[in-house]
Amino acid sequence: MRNWVLITGCSTGIGRALVPLCRASGWGVVATARRVETLADLPPGEDLRVLPLDVTEAASIAAAVTACEDLSLKALVNNAGYGQVGPLELLRPEELRAQFETNVIGLHQVTNAFLPLLRREPGARILQVASMLGRLSIPLAGPYNASKHAVVALAESLRLEIGEEVAVVLVEPGAIRTEFRETLTKAWGDLPERARGTRYEAILARYLAVRKHQSERFAMDAGRCAGKILKALVAERPPRRVVIGRDAFWVGKVKALLPAAWWEAILRRAYGLKRP
Ligand SMILES: NC(=O)c1ccc[n+]([C@@H]2O[C@H](COP(=O)([O-])OP(=O)(O)OC[C@H]3O[C@@H](n4cnc5c(N)ncnc54)[C@H](OP(=O)(O)O)[C@@H]3O)[C@@H](O)[C@H]2O)c1
Repeated sequence: MRNWVLITGCSTGIGRALVPLCRASGWGVVATARRVETLADLPPGEDLRVLPLDVTEAASIAAAVTACEDLSLKALVNNAGYGQVGPLELLRPEELRAQFETNVIGLHQVTNAFLPLLRREPGARILQVASMLGRLSIPLAGPYNASKHAVVALAESLRLEIGEEVAVVLVEPGAIRTEFRETLTKAWGDLPERARGTRYEAILARYLAVRKHQSERFAMDAGRCAGKILKALVAERPPRRVVIGRDAFWVGKVKALLPAAWWEAILRRAYGLKRP
């Protein structure tokens, strides 16, 4: 009997890169995306099931569970997510809500919905894709930082509650080369207009440049990142955390070593937030 893994958010990026890797290592993959047509180019096979799944829609989640009932579902990768960024001062409550609906509540609902299927399989595991920004916060990414801190907290509580039956693995990537940066500028909507004439106008332009530079200089290829996730998926004893990328590994350590005032000064300078 084949082991199956369900992955959310397979239209692009890390989720998409994970699909062929899992199949190549003998797993069956339930590849899901809210726009199922984005999965049309996946090579068909007995080891692939393609399903629509919007993690913010209860009916969509329930339909996906029903469509997986006949499978030996051994793993769930909660990968779907996006970055809502911008200065907190300009953030609308509905933007914060939407960020949590997808990154936190969606992940929670999908987890709970699939738990009964996962519980049937010995050695089953849930991989929650958080971020290095689930352990530390950077400026201008407040909603995203908050959502990923929440993912870390939920996963750590869940592990205490069910970890002896179903393993809970936190995946904590640093910068990965995906569609993430493009989606981020779509998600902020009219933020550039809201920022016009405020101190954030120039800061936001700089923010994009800093992220572009970081992503070109440090970001890891999505395939490499997926390879590290696969290791946790197939490991006999799944790890509690998978920290992915040198940035994710070092930034937390540097923060822990530096006095808080130094750490904050470095970030303010990096993001152009020092007072003139
Ligand atoms: N890239 C990075 O630097 C980085 C670093 C740390 C953590 N992460 C995390 O890694 C995960 C994957 O991101 P990525 O970098 O691969 O970015 P990506 O290429 O933008 O992929 C994000 C995926 O999530 C999907 N998604 C968004 N909202 C959804 C919803 N409501 N229901 C179902 N799917 C939804 C997107 O689908 P659509 O195409 O329909 O929008 C897309 O398939 C995210 O959780 C992200 O926070 C990324």
